[in-house]
Amino acid sequence: MIDIHAHILPAIDDGPETIEESIELCKVAANDGIKTIVATPHSKDGVYESKSVEILKAVDTLNSQLKENQIDVKILPGAEIHISEGLVESIKNADVLTINNGGKFILFELPFVFIPPGTDKFIFNLMSNGVVPIIAHAERITAFQRKPELVDQMVKIGARVQINANCLTKRANRGERKCAEWLLKKGLVHFIASDTHSLRGRPPILSEAVRSASRIIGEEKAMALVCHNPEQIINGLDIY
Ligand SMILES: [Fe+2]
Repeated sequence: MIDIHAHILPAIDDGPETIEESIELCKVAANDGIKTIVATPHSKDGVYESKSVEILKAVDTLNSQLKENQIDVKILPGAEIHISEGLVESIKNADVLTINNGGKFILFELPFVFIPPGTDKFIFNLMSNGVVPIIAHAERITAFQRKPELVDQMVKIGARVQINANCLTKRANRGERKCAEWLLKKGLVHFIASDTHSLRGRPPILSEAVRSASRIIGEEKAMALVCHNPEQIINGLDIY
C-alpha cells in the first residue's frame, strides 16, 4: 500500500518531533503493509512554512535512517498546501512541493468550517495550469458534511479526493464517517490515506479502513484507493 498523506518528517511541522519518532511511525506503517509514504508536511498555511529544500533534505535523511534500520518503507517528498494567492506561481517556481516532486498533483487543504468563495475558480485555474488538486480529508470539512454534493462539483472540475483512514475505523467521529461513506458510495473518493501525525492520534495504518471500505464498495475498488490510484499519481499519471 501507498500512503499519500503523512506528517512523518521530524521537527518540521506538528508531526513527530524526533527522527526516532519518525522511524517508529514507519515501523508501524511497514507492519501494516505500507511500502511507500509521501511525506506531506504543512506548507504555506500561515503557521508552518516548510521550504521545499528542507523537505527534500529531511526525506533523504529519513530514507537513509530507514535503510540503516532495515525498515522496508520508502519516503517520497510532498506537502500539504493551503489555498493561497499565487499558488500556481509557487508551484512553478518549486517553492511548494507537489506529490513526489512531479509538478502535477498537489495535496490541497481547505478550511474546515467554510469553503472560501471562488474555490471552484481556484481549482479550475490550477487545472488549466496542469496542476491537479487532491482535496485532503474531505470528510473533515464541515461544509462537505452538511452538503457532500459540493464535493461532486469539485470533482467535476477535476479535483481528486482523499479521505482519512481513521474516519472508517471504530473510533471514527460520526459526522466524518457519514460523509466518508456517502462519498464512497457515490464514487467520489480516490484515496484513503493516514494523515498520520503520531502513534496516538492517527497512526499510519490503512488496513482497517480498507476493510471497512470493502464492505461499502467491494474489495477491488477499496484496494485501488491505497494501491493503484496512489501509484498512478506518484508516477505523474491520471486516475479516473
Ligand atoms: Fe495533514
